[in-house]
Formats: sequence, structure tokens, C-alpha cells
Amino acid sequence: MTEKAAVLVGRRLPDAVEQRLQRNYAPRFNSDDVVYSADQLVELADGATAIIPCHTERLSAQVIERLPDSVRAICSFSVGYDHIDLAAARARGIIVTNTPDVLSNATAEIAILLLLGAARRAHEGARMLRTDSWGEWSATGQLGIEVTGKRLGIIGMGRVGQVTARRARGFDMQIHYHNRRRIDVDLECGATFHADLATMLPVCDFLSIHCPATAETTGLLNAERIAQLPDGAVVINTARGAVVDDDALIAALTSGKLFAAGLDVFNGEPNIDPRYRELDNTFLLPHIGSATRETRDAMGFRALDNLDAIMAGREPRDRLA
Ligand code: DGY
Repeated sequence: MTEKAAVLVGRRLPDAVEQRLQRNYAPRFNSDDVVYSADQLVELADGATAIIPCHTERLSAQVIERLPDSVRAICSFSVGYDHIDLAAARARGIIVTNTPDVLSNATAEIAILLLLGAARRAHEGARMLRTDSWGEWSATGQLGIEVTGKRLGIIGMGRVGQVTARRARGFDMQIHYHNRRRIDVDLECGATFHADLATMLPVCDFLSIHCPATAETTGLLNAERIAQLPDGAVVINTARGAVVDDDALIAALTSGKLFAAGLDVFNGEPNIDPRYRELDNTFLLPHIGSATRETRDAMGFRALDNLDAIMAGREPRDRLA
């Protein structure tokens, strides 16, 4: 009987995914679900053929350089790959994959939840009920912004951006988008493409971020760009915290330049900038864009499909490096 390949699993994964891993590989599970340090990752990978990290495991160039030679693949349980240094992996001949497509619906649902929650001040209303501080109903209290018919700008019209646009059309929103390149007209469904972000920002009552965090997009939403948004705009982020300059966003929320922000992702998660918590006009969630049972199973199976392909000497579907 041939020995099963050892696989280092970064975090606890859904039961069905761990069971499939157990059937086909010799998994090194993380039953305590702790976030491994760089040293632990290197140590635990000793003799492993592959690593299945989540976005919480940072596979920087330094970590990848120290990985044992046994490691042939990094099959991430995530669509985002800003936690993996692709150039370093390439240099060591390590194949890297991610899990696109399967989390687009779930993440777009959270984008819409944030959009509605921020616009309609859901967090303030919910807090009133939980703290028993709901006074009399008032014709002028708790006034939010109506979403229906407004203009939504999308930065990054990839899979999640496109699904978010389709859902937003259910509210008769007019969609604008900025992307590295224009997408097929069929996929646009009437959305307006802006080659230049500067032409889109002034027409965004709502701005939703869906681009990956890269060297080019880090700090993209800075003070200068926020100033180009209409007064009273709402910012939504389900992509990565790194795309936003926190000081600039917090200043605009404090001054009233922006009406509100709905954020699921943050710089330095889970230790977010505490000023976000102090603001009433922030609707905050703990990075749960892909957190549905269906999607987390699908992400795991997609990561394993990639791993199976690599182990069988085939090209994996979602190769990044
Ligand atoms: C992703 O897949 O990138 C999500 O942010 C969860 O990690």
C-alpha cells in the first residue's frame, strides 16, 4: 500500500472537508484552530507535501524560503491570496492555488447586507433594542438613506463585484464600475465602465470595494479619493482592509463627509482600529463574507480538487503560481 501524502492544514475546516482529506491524505489537522506563527508553520510542514492555509496564515517570502523541500503545493482555502508571496513560491517551484467562484454569492450577500445596514442605520436600531433604549416611535428619528434607485460604484468587477451588481439591480440601483479592463458587454448588464476611477467616484452614492489587495491597490481609498465622492456617500468593503486608508476613512466618517461605512474586512484583523467601534455610522462585521455552510464546504472541496490535480500530475484549475 502506498503511503498517503502528509498535508498540513492551517485551520479547522468544515467536517465534510476534513473527512475527505482524511480519506485521501495523511492530514495534520489544527484541532485547536489556533493561528500558527511563522515558526510553527515551518516546523509543522516538515515532511508535508502540501499546505492548506486560510487567509490567516501568512506565507511571506521569508516563510516560504524556510519551508522544507517536501512542500510541493500551497492550496489556499480562500479566494484572496494576499497572504501568500507568489513570487517566492514560484522561485521555489511550489504550486499555489486559490478558491474562486464558489464564494461569490455568499460574499455579495454580505456586501448587500452592509450596504443596507449602513444606509438604514441598522446597528444603531439593533443596539436600541438590545440595550432597552427604544423611546417612542418618531417621525424624524433613525432616518437613513434610501438605497432604491441610487448609484452604486464598484471597484473591481470580478466575480464578486458582478454578483453584487446583479443583486443591487434588484433595488433598481444604477451600476458604475472601475476595473483594470472593461468586462464583456454581456456581463455588464448595462453597467457603466470607467477606465479612470476619478470619473466614477463623483457619481457614487454608494461605493463597494471588490478588488484584491495588491501592491497597486493598497491604500487605494485614501483622503484624496474620498474627497471625490459625493457628500453623504456610503462606503462598503468586503474585499480586504488593506485597500482602505483607515485614517482617511475614519476622518470622513467623523466629519460627516461620508454618511456611513459598512465593513467586513479590516487592516490588522482581528485587532481593528478601535475608532471604528466608537463611530455610530459604521456597520461592522467580522470578516464573514464567505461564512455560509454551503460556501465553506465548497471552498474546501475546491481546495482539495486543486490538491488532487497536483498530486495526480495534472494542471490544477485555480493555479496562481
Ligand atoms: C477569502 O476567501 O479570501 C475570504 O476573504 C476568506 O478568507
